Amino acid sequence: MVGAGLILGIESSCDETAAAVVQRGSHTLSSVVASQITTHARYGGVVPELASREHLRAIVPVVRAALAQADITLAELDAIAVTSGPGLAGALLVGITFAKALAFATALPLIAVNHLEGHIHAVLLNERDIESGKTQVSEATPGAPDDEEPALALVVSGGHTHLYLAQPIDNTWHYTLVGRTLDDAAGEAYDKVAKLLGLGYPGGPWIDALAQHGNPHAVPFAFSHIKTKLHLGGNAPRTKAAKTAPIANLDPHFLFSFSGIKTAVLRYVELNNLRSEAESRREELFTGSSAPAHPSIEEALAACTQPTLDLIASFQRAVVGDLMKKSFAAAESLDARRILVTGGVAANRELRSRFTAEAARRNLRVSFPTLTLSTDNAAMIAAAAWPRLLDRDFAAPDLSADPSLVLGR
Ligand code: KG4
Ligand code: ZN
Repeated sequence: MVGAGLILGIESSCDETAAAVVQRGSHTLSSVVASQITTHARYGGVVPELASREHLRAIVPVVRAALAQADITLAELDAIAVTSGPGLAGALLVGITFAKALAFATALPLIAVNHLEGHIHAVLLNERDIESGKTQVSEATPGAPDDEEPALALVVSGGHTHLYLAQPIDNTWHYTLVGRTLDDAAGEAYDKVAKLLGLGYPGGPWIDALAQHGNPHAVPFAFSHIKTKLHLGGNAPRTKAAKTAPIANLDPHFLFSFSGIKTAVLRYVELNNLRSEAESRREELFTGSSAPAHPSIEEALAACTQPTLDLIASFQRAVVGDLMKKSFAAAESLDARRILVTGGVAANRELRSRFTAEAARRNLRVSFPTLTLSTDNAAMIAAAAWPRLLDRDFAAPDLSADPSLVLGR
């Protein structure tokens, strides 16, 4: 019995404490996100110990708020879903421990969800949410995987740049890893480039906004073709990303590398003396003692010269171009007629418009989550749990955090 199909999702894998109630993987009743950005901003990145402490503070009020906004009680729920990995161990443990205790106290089943699968379901949920807005949520509501066609999914965030083939088989989603980054994630490159330019954290939204004011053709950044076998001897590289999945059997055409462009930006900045120009103005704006809590885009623009804006626009054009080239090549080679783009970087405006234009040109379907569903949230976790509830695929009582959890084969 799955009752009304009401699932409480809980997410705490990085720097957002989130809870949401989603019905049948297709209708969002509430989605609450407590961001820790202000805690980590002054360090220019997420500090794991601080993240755990903030999750501990936020988890109870966030779950209460999600239930209150959905206007339901614990007794009305059919299951509890929680992110079990990948992510920061201490941060994941807060959500998992809370979810386990709540499931035990309420005798509800607990469903473990892979964070990356969650990001993929953020897109599917968004599409079904629009559908269920038009019709009554019923047994026949779309949401069962068999209603869907296979898709090429690009998960592009601060921690991941992964390509998967997502296939609905026997009413559950199956994932095959197709490509991934060998080093930095695309969002990490955005954050590092923003940091070296003295911009705020996280850097993606600042680069997105400032890039609109620069010439994207000013600096010719190039991504070279990756020859895995040659430079790695067929072995996985010793990087953070290497822990998440093997690369030996992946087509090198679908592998990414973003550490090179970060170094190229640094060299360009040094050679053209861009760090000293307006640097003090930018640092004062983002980290100075009298820095405003939320600098405006006008203030950020006033702190950048045209060569810096041109560099930012050129960096973004190169990164988005590389993501596009490999995603569309993978879709073509796997014969996927549909592309899902998700994760924090999927909020990027240039990425959305260029993927949309290219998909139209190739007669493919491309979908993104809403902007709020692009970054970490718990609605995507509750949505990903729905096929598991149908399948009665529940977590073992000894469920624990798996910081390097892999998605798919
Ligand atoms: O999915 P997410 O919230 O957390 C992870 O799972 O990593 O993604 C956060 C990442 C950060 O690197 C942030 O800079 C990037 O997404 N990001 C963006 C934009 N908004 C967030 N990158 C480019 N353009 C944006 N508009
Ligand atoms: Zn994420």
